[in-house]
Amino acid sequence: MSPLANKRILLGVSGGIAAYKAAELARLLRAEDVGVKVVMTRSATAFVAPLTFQALSGQPVSLELLDAHAEAAMGHIDLARWADRILIAPATADFIAKLRIGIADELLTAVCLAAEAPIVLAPAMNRVMWHNSATQNNVQCLRNRGIKILGPMEGAQACGETGLGRMMEPADICAALAAAFSGGILNGVSVLVTAGPTREAIDPVRYISNRSSGKMGYAVAEAAAEAGAEVTLVSGPVSLSAPDIKAIVKVESAREMYQAVMERVASQAIFIGAAAVADYRPVAAQTKKIKKEAGRPQLILEKTDDILAGVAQLDDGPFTVGFAAETDNLEEYAQRKLQNKALDMIAANWVGRPDGGFDHDENALTVFWPNGQRLLPMAPKRVVAKQLIALIGERFHANKR
Ligand code: PMT
Repeated sequence: MSPLANKRILLGVSGGIAAYKAAELARLLRAEDVGVKVVMTRSATAFVAPLTFQALSGQPVSLELLDAHAEAAMGHIDLARWADRILIAPATADFIAKLRIGIADELLTAVCLAAEAPIVLAPAMNRVMWHNSATQNNVQCLRNRGIKILGPMEGAQACGETGLGRMMEPADICAALAAAFSGGILNGVSVLVTAGPTREAIDPVRYISNRSSGKMGYAVAEAAAEAGAEVTLVSGPVSLSAPDIKAIVKVESAREMYQAVMERVASQAIFIGAAAVADYRPVAAQTKKIKKEAGRPQLILEKTDDILAGVAQLDDGPFTVGFAAETDNLEEYAQRKLQNKALDMIAANWVGRPDGGFDHDENALTVFWPNGQRLLPMAPKRVVAKQLIALIGERFHANKR
């Protein structure tokens, strides 16, 4: 039986072009035996007629805050009490802003304000509106209040632009809701993930770094959260939107990443080191910009502390998963890192090739653990990350037994 069966989901539709996709969402939810009631904002009715949702949900659609026909004229309270989950899809920038400050000027905003059930948002908007710091601040504030944000996704937009802002596909929203109801393989487990590159200062304007975009580590953090984990992400400098997780700590250098991890790792059950941490840094960063001079300037480097090895060596430390980025001898070097650093697992990937690895949207991993290995073939990093988290969940629970 689907984990969604017999659940009661209040589907809130706010006014954006993606409202047409919410009709498909209502159909998919009904197909999973979900009780669906739909509440539309006034502007949503300009995109899709309420009758469409009535036909798909098998229930009258609620539109008005001051509805004399609703029992005791308290429709918003009744609806809020009825729902096991409130899902707003699409959630427009305007709706998200209202939710943040608690405006209750129409039925859907009033229901959200009166709800004790968890609220899930599937944002959809133009990419510039999504990246606007007003929207980003609102989204982060809602996340901090425990509201779950699904998406948005990258791709072609109704406005003709391409970027982040498309509503997550209805089937993926259903899958995320099902995972939330079924608990997920890492339900309640604390997971610390590192992602992105580090920057090692040479002087105030120059640094040594690498090609890591953070995409793999962010996808891993998000997949762990989708599997029910309480995720803290320690991130090097990247230009990605914050994933929907418990906490994110931004750092720049290997030293800062080491400190951020060590300050938090004692309370963690799993550590996943997906960051491309610099192995070397300049011995002393110059305080003033180095001037161009004749001859060959010398840069003296020293080793950085190995965060992964440090975590793996802790007494009562977490289940520790490393990554290995290799240009040759993938299996041999990954197995060596697994043993030398005393890891529970290592996920090895090819780098420096035309596909996968640094900065690409796709990747393939070969995962090794003592007495086992599995290939996760080339796929979008989001997909590979989900498979990796499923595998980590299996090994983590097996180790506990
Ligand atoms: O960020 P993307 O563009 O999406 O690219 C993804 C990725 C290629 C960066 C990622 O999949 C990956 O392989 N991350 C690890 C990169 C790396 O530094 O590999 P390594 O083989 O040099 O290091 C082995 C492990 O030791 C890694 O888990 C690394 O985080 C860790 N390490 C290394 C040095 C150091 N000082 N401290 C560490 O913890």
